[in-house]
Amino acid sequence: MAHPQPEALGELAELLGQLGLQVETARSTVEALNKLRFQPAHVIVSQQISGSFDGIGLLEASILHAPEALRIALVSSPDEAVELDYRPAHGGTIIRLVARPSERSRLVVVVGEGVKLLNLVEQQRELVRKLSVDQGKLQRRELLLDTVVKERTKELEESYEKLKAANRQALFGLAEAIEAKDPYTKGHCGRVAAYSLVLAKEMGYPADGLETLEFGAFLHDIGKIGIKDAVLLKPGPLDDTEWTHMREHPVKGYEIASKIEMLKPIMSAVRNHHERWDGSGYPDKMIAESIPVAARIVAIADAFDAMATDRPYKKALPLEECEAVLRKTAGKMYDPELITIFCDRHLGALYHDDYDNLPVEDGHEAEVASSK
Ligand SMILES: [Fe+2]
Repeated sequence: MAHPQPEALGELAELLGQLGLQVETARSTVEALNKLRFQPAHVIVSQQISGSFDGIGLLEASILHAPEALRIALVSSPDEAVELDYRPAHGGTIIRLVARPSERSRLVVVVGEGVKLLNLVEQQRELVRKLSVDQGKLQRRELLLDTVVKERTKELEESYEKLKAANRQALFGLAEAIEAKDPYTKGHCGRVAAYSLVLAKEMGYPADGLETLEFGAFLHDIGKIGIKDAVLLKPGPLDDTEWTHMREHPVKGYEIASKIEMLKPIMSAVRNHHERWDGSGYPDKMIAESIPVAARIVAIADAFDAMATDRPYKKALPLEECEAVLRKTAGKMYDPELITIFCDRHLGALYHDDYDNLPVEDGHEAEVASSK
């Protein structure tokens, strides 16, 4: 508060002090601006006395130090009095009140309202600051949580992949153990898986099912675990009883697969790879399209490999002859469309070099398209 006359200054300071405000006084513009520089005020009241004290000039100069302060000029004539809408954002607004003792209650009201408004604005700002701090904390916590969750998920995924790989290895090991019993079928499961995969890709099999199909093809004969060695390893043709027993292997395989969660998706390839297109296959005597595609694919790959490799009772046939036999049996034993794809594109050439180098044994009659 600035006023050149000490008595009037003391009286006004006492009046505003009743509002509970801390009041600082100054008797000159220089003194007032000096005080404002070190302690910005919320309310600045100054006396305007024409020709002797430029209170309005002081208020204008105070904008630099206290831009949002409520500024009040006490003027001597009612003509000069202007009461404006003061808001803290309206920096520089100067309210002019008449400096009569009768108008002092008006001064108290304006100052009181201005202080309330300033307090409200300050509270609002404090709230915004607090909220932004809380939000920042929340964001940091979320980020931390996100990182922890990602790390845990990665660890779990890695563990799951390791477990999956271990399970696959165990199952492949089992299939290989069956193969190992019979040196003539060595590598058969791997080749059937490879032919199946390439045929599936060529015929437009769903990409997300390829891995399962390959797995199913590899393990299609897993039911041979339950076939007696005397039958499984018999070097010559099987008699009727032996064939009946041998033909139990798809159902035995299905029973194994249905008990192992990981093998459930490949059950159809295991159970139905000996079905025939014309319904004369086993175990379910399915016909044509009712045979699951995976089983139809594996059936062709299985038959082709049986022809294209040496067996105890026959020797390997060249690619062209294998294809000719498959074409002849298409529509009877195998899906004709799949056979066309397999033969036209010579998909059996995958292992051509391998079976070209296989030793040819004399005395074995070729028995085509009849994998056990
Ligand atoms: Fe089989």
